[in-house]
Amino acid sequence: MDVVIMAAGKGTRMKSRLPKVLHPLAGRPLLRHVLDTASALQARKAVVITGHGAMEVEAACAGNTGAAAPLSLHFVRQEPQLGTGHAVQQAVPVLADDGVVVVLSGDVPLTRIDTLRALVQASGGDRLALLTIDFADPTGYGRIVREGGPQGAVRAIAEQKDATPEQRAIREVYSGIMAAPASLLKGWLARLDNRNAQGEYYLTDVVKLAVADGVPVVAHKIDDAVQVAGVNSPVQLAELERAYQRRVALQLMEQGVRLADPARLDVRGELQCAQDVAIDVNCVFEGRVTLGEGVQIGANCVIANAVIEAGAVIHPFTHIDGEKLGVTVGAGALIGPFARLRPGAQLGAEVHIGNFVEVKNSTLAKGAKANHLAYLGDATVGERVNYGAGSITANYDGANKHRTVIEADVHVGSNCVLVAPVTIGAGGTIGGGSTITKDTPAGALSVARGKQVSIANWARPQKAPKA
Ligand code: UD1
Ligand code: MG
Repeated sequence: MDVVIMAAGKGTRMKSRLPKVLHPLAGRPLLRHVLDTASALQARKAVVITGHGAMEVEAACAGNTGAAAPLSLHFVRQEPQLGTGHAVQQAVPVLADDGVVVVLSGDVPLTRIDTLRALVQASGGDRLALLTIDFADPTGYGRIVREGGPQGAVRAIAEQKDATPEQRAIREVYSGIMAAPASLLKGWLARLDNRNAQGEYYLTDVVKLAVADGVPVVAHKIDDAVQVAGVNSPVQLAELERAYQRRVALQLMEQGVRLADPARLDVRGELQCAQDVAIDVNCVFEGRVTLGEGVQIGANCVIANAVIEAGAVIHPFTHIDGEKLGVTVGAGALIGPFARLRPGAQLGAEVHIGNFVEVKNSTLAKGAKANHLAYLGDATVGERVNYGAGSITANYDGANKHRTVIEADVHVGSNCVLVAPVTIGAGGTIGGGSTITKDTPAGALSVARGKQVSIANWARPQKAPKA
């Protein structure tokens, strides 16, 4: 099986500089969804027809398909765009003669794999198979014209602008998706003309040609409109986003995940959940996120590329972004509210990170705590360390980053600056307000700040009395 994906259209109604098929749905370009579908179908080849914004579209899709099955990806330019039939004609030179061709659109992202498998099966290697659906309002779509009523054999597709009044009354429409034996399809494509209301080469005219050749045309009708819905405008894009998120939410709940509100969840990537995970409202998950058993995610958290281990609690308004390095939150850790974990934050079991604490590229061992208003960057923090409010690691000297090592059982007071590279010896205490520039010995109290001075009976300056 090979797949042809039409993606040359302009998408005028998106009113955007970005080519339509590159607009993201669930964090991935629309076209990427269609390519992933092609991979999942185990297509040999995907031929993408580009036109408007071709360079950008090709650049955005080249390389990894992200999916497991290897898919050989080809781009073919269609310039100018003379219709959907003309679009598929451009793919002919790169399509093999054997096998089945499935025609998809780059702006129809949510077709299910099993639907397409059924369509290919309906084609059976010697028939033309059309994916169709009944619409209460079929305006604008190609109508499925059958012989003698709704159960009769398919004879043609009548486009809106060419349809007779009787044909316009037909509610069964062509979805834009078809499957056909490659050799037959190639023959029909060569015979298309543009003698119609729009002066375009209609792909849908292959139906008439198949009928003329005595090749059976079968309709595979579905009733889930989301699967054939295209994106033409920001409103439709937002509607499909919600449809996609609804699917994800239902899947998660079927696995036992408790969602406070399935309508207020956004997964833009892959979210894996163990048993007894609970997620409050308005959370966004991006990239790869894994939530261990019993993890609780508070409201309004944004979590990307992270592993949250069993029993950890992420309080509301926490932002976690592991980017390429990842973030790990250990078992039973308590994070937030209002915490920020950046790439390379590796938190051990039972670590506590409280409000307005930022952790970047740092390892915190079991039971370490930074509960308020603090920064830990490029630090190695030992077990049970208590890191005081307002303390920071000064990890950057303007040119290079340096590490701070805080050994086990250290207490760092409030408002300290640890100027890296520096090591705070095990069990030591750093007095509040200290700026530490040298290593400190284990077990010692280290203080580095102006000594407190009190001047007795200090008279404050007075304002001169008004004249
Ligand atoms: C097409 C079908 C119609 C069907 C509808 C479903 C034809 C003639 N009609 O109509 O029966 O009900 O889809 O949505 O096929 N494209 C190109 N090059 C072109 C023209 C279009 O790549 O020259 C791409 C578009 O970017 C789009 C897809 O083909 O992704 C469909 O084109 P569109 O203009 O939306 O077709 P419709 O008129 O909606
Ligand atoms: Mg359309």
